[in-house]
Amino acid sequence: MRSNDNDFAALDLAARLAAEYRRAVAAAPANPAVGYGEVHARFDRPVPDEGCDALDLIAELDRGARDGLRPIVAPRFYAWVNGSSHLAGVAADWLTSAWGQNCAGIPMTPAGSAVEAVAARWLLELLDLPAESSVGLVSGATIANTVGLAAARGEQLRKAGWNVEDDGLYGAPPLRVLVGADAHNTVFSGLRYLGLGEKRVERIATDDLGRMLPADLERALKGHSGPLIVIGQAGQINTGVSDPFAETAPLVHAAGGWLHVDGAFGLWARASAQHRHLLAGIEQCDSWATDGHKWLQTPYDCGFVIVRHEAAHRQAMDMQASYLTRDDRSFRHPGAYVPELSRRSRGFAAWAMMRRLGRAGVARMVEEDVRLAQVMARGMAEIPGVSVLNQPELNQFVVRFGEEHGPEVADRLTQATVDQIQRDAIAFMGTALWRGRLVMRMSVCSIATTDEDAAITIEAVRSAWARVQAAE
Ligand SMILES: Cc1ncc(COP(=O)(O)O)c(C=O)c1O
Repeated sequence: MRSNDNDFAALDLAARLAAEYRRAVAAAPANPAVGYGEVHARFDRPVPDEGCDALDLIAELDRGARDGLRPIVAPRFYAWVNGSSHLAGVAADWLTSAWGQNCAGIPMTPAGSAVEAVAARWLLELLDLPAESSVGLVSGATIANTVGLAAARGEQLRKAGWNVEDDGLYGAPPLRVLVGADAHNTVFSGLRYLGLGEKRVERIATDDLGRMLPADLERALKGHSGPLIVIGQAGQINTGVSDPFAETAPLVHAAGGWLHVDGAFGLWARASAQHRHLLAGIEQCDSWATDGHKWLQTPYDCGFVIVRHEAAHRQAMDMQASYLTRDDRSFRHPGAYVPELSRRSRGFAAWAMMRRLGRAGVARMVEEDVRLAQVMARGMAEIPGVSVLNQPELNQFVVRFGEEHGPEVADRLTQATVDQIQRDAIAFMGTALWRGRLVMRMSVCSIATTDEDAAITIEAVRSAWARVQAAE
């Protein structure tokens, strides 16, 4: 069946509806008007016997889903580390989908492969990471961590005379994995997928804010020999702090190990002259994971794995088949660095956001978000009864309410205040556990957030907290 006029018209309709949504969302309440159950009921019908017109179904999709959308792209969304799916990236993504480019290889998509290669180089330049590194464009930081760790596993075992890619882990020499005590959960997912075990890892102690303690790492590595992976972090999910890489990297390398960095959002501090000192020494590491759909503001799904040792990266990921010809081995083969064969040409949206913002725009965005996080942290700390637990050095901070009443009461008051803020729907934040206690977590990761939003957010917190106290 060929596309008919209405299939083509559906593209225009989708563009019009999307623009309508995006124009309205900045002023929209921070909560969806309806929840999962309502939206599910609207769509939950038997598989239709007959198809329908594309114009009708796009209208039906918009009608059925729009009021159940969480305004993640709105400027006062702080609950999770989510970017704002910038319209420039969205537009490039639409083209990517319309072009139907499968980035499995150069013959499959010369343009998709070429633009991805340029996006990969730009990324290394923006983050000032070693130019010889290879870059894979993956679905997000979870998979970027997994790929980086797969390269690490292969290389470390190869040095011990074992080929894990050929022979698996059966009978392999033991591989030690050391992780900071405040690592993100997704690192453990990667370890699980790779047969390295979530529980088998050794935890390295961290400081009050979650930075790996070099002295504890040194203790753990004393006398070590053999395969070793250490996983560090740039940007702790609650406090935003990063490991002291200038101290940890030499320790790991002296022990013959591989240092991988989960930098899902924090790695972007490298793009700012003002904040790059927070990541001093990170360029000495062996692999890095980061996201485009967080601080680069690309639409989902866009993550990057960066590996200093290209051969190890390729050996872990490359896949060949007789029907996948490679037209020129001197070009970067996009499939050599990622686990998927078929995938969207993610490079177009990544290129689009770097092109839209430029080096200065990325730096400004990071600096603005950090400044706004600091403004909000200061503003909230001035409200009586509100404790800001970390002065943000980056974009993340955590807050408690009613600490003077003791930890259990403060847990309850913090939950009640966040619930009230969510009901008010002026801003959207969530809770997390930090050091065993409930906190309100703030993540300032959108290019859309302004000083006005910061002021409105502080007032939203003040007002919700006042009502929670009055109800006590
Ligand atoms: C520090 C850190 N690592 C990894 C991830 C996982 O990233 P993704 O959701 O893109 O897979 C996140 C997500 O918030 C994160 O903050």
